[in-house]
Amino acid sequence: MKKMKIGVVGAGFMGKAHCVALSNMPKLFTDAPYVPVFKTVCDVVPEIAEDFKERFSFEKACTDYMEVINDPEIDIVCVCTPNDSHAEISIAALKAGKHVICEKPIATKTEDAKAMAKAAEEAAKKGIVSMCGYQYRRVPAIDEAKKIIESGRLGEITNVRAQYLQSWSADPRSPLSWRFVKETAGAGTLGDIFTHALDIAQYLAGNVTDVVSMVKTYIKERPVQEGGVDLLGTVKLGDDAKKQVVDVDDEVSVLCKYDSGAIGSIEATRMAWGRNNYLTVEVHGTKGSLTWNYERLNELEVCYGMEDNDGERGFRKIYTGPANPHGDVTWNIPGMNIGYGELKAIEAYEFAKAVVGGYQPSTSFTAGYQLDRVCDAILESDEKKAWVKVK
Ligand SMILES: NC(=O)c1ccc[n+]([C@@H]2O[C@H](COP(=O)([O-])OP(=O)(O)OC[C@H]3O[C@@H](n4cnc5c(N)ncnc54)[C@H](O)[C@@H]3O)[C@@H](O)[C@H]2O)c1
Repeated sequence: MKKMKIGVVGAGFMGKAHCVALSNMPKLFTDAPYVPVFKTVCDVVPEIAEDFKERFSFEKACTDYMEVINDPEIDIVCVCTPNDSHAEISIAALKAGKHVICEKPIATKTEDAKAMAKAAEEAAKKGIVSMCGYQYRRVPAIDEAKKIIESGRLGEITNVRAQYLQSWSADPRSPLSWRFVKETAGAGTLGDIFTHALDIAQYLAGNVTDVVSMVKTYIKERPVQEGGVDLLGTVKLGDDAKKQVVDVDDEVSVLCKYDSGAIGSIEATRMAWGRNNYLTVEVHGTKGSLTWNYERLNELEVCYGMEDNDGERGFRKIYTGPANPHGDVTWNIPGMNIGYGELKAIEAYEFAKAVVGGYQPSTSFTAGYQLDRVCDAILESDEKKAWVKVK
């Protein structure tokens, strides 16, 4: 079976997610295009890189990503670092002829996102593939939702309501990691989780053309976490910890118009007590509706309103399984369920198919740049207190 050598840059949460996914991809998909060989892991913290190398059986650990880029044996680079380094690492990797899967959001600045899209388009001419880590559109229930929408059974899509609600930063003692600093994150909730909800909404309803928004920061300063992986609110720092001003948003609320003619709303917050990974989408059409929540990701609820009789109308629950998109990774019976690990393996599989097939996946760098432009319009709308067109 074909083998591809992997370099991973950034050995935190996403480094782990990519490596677990890559290991599982050929085990879950019988037609997996290749088997990964873990060549080099890079992290600026040497102990993190060394520990990761041991646990994932990499051949080598390093602290300078250029060692990954300059290694002629490496075919694929997974960019799993904080947002401010995505552009320099991804562009260097593409120029060196590596296929690149880069975590989202694409970059911290519009000019960097644009440069990444340009570098990806140039590299594509030589058969080099790149992709952003927007995996939620690849949940089997979301692909099933897309099939149902495209079949016309819901009629014309009128409204899309999407939400991404989390609570891990609701406690003011939850530390200020790189995610709360504009220079490293670019934005707060907006880039971190809002873009996932936006990506799903656009996948199902077309591109957003106009927005009006409210963007808020509730906790204006936090105790500082120095370096290392973001602990995502799992520790609380005491009153004696050094404090730093938060210069990114905690919450975003947006009304949208889509190029399909649909309208809708998208909101995201990391401050919603009681909500964990509450990523939801509800789609209304002239003949029916559907609704989905990541916290029960294997279930899609559909109401074929115009097909049902009065008195019998309501949502029916589909448990996704072997008969649904990417059924190969699910277990043999609907309801046995997949989780985050299998979802990232689906993403790795889609990336692998694109690499071997020589085409750009739907979550290309160009798509990442488009999401970034919607985010720019959202920030501009909040500032101007007016509707803004996506440029
Ligand atoms: N797709 C998703 O669902 C999802 C989920 C979480 C995070 N992310 C994205 O993944 C990226 C990484 O987030 P994370 O949660 O894994 O962060 P993390 O804090 O857990 O890990 C980041 C790691 O990168 C290392 N690092 C920082 N700069 C580096 C550099 N220049 N070279 C090498 N290593 C470097 C850090 O030391 C740390 O170990 C971010 O862009 C984030 O937005 C995506």
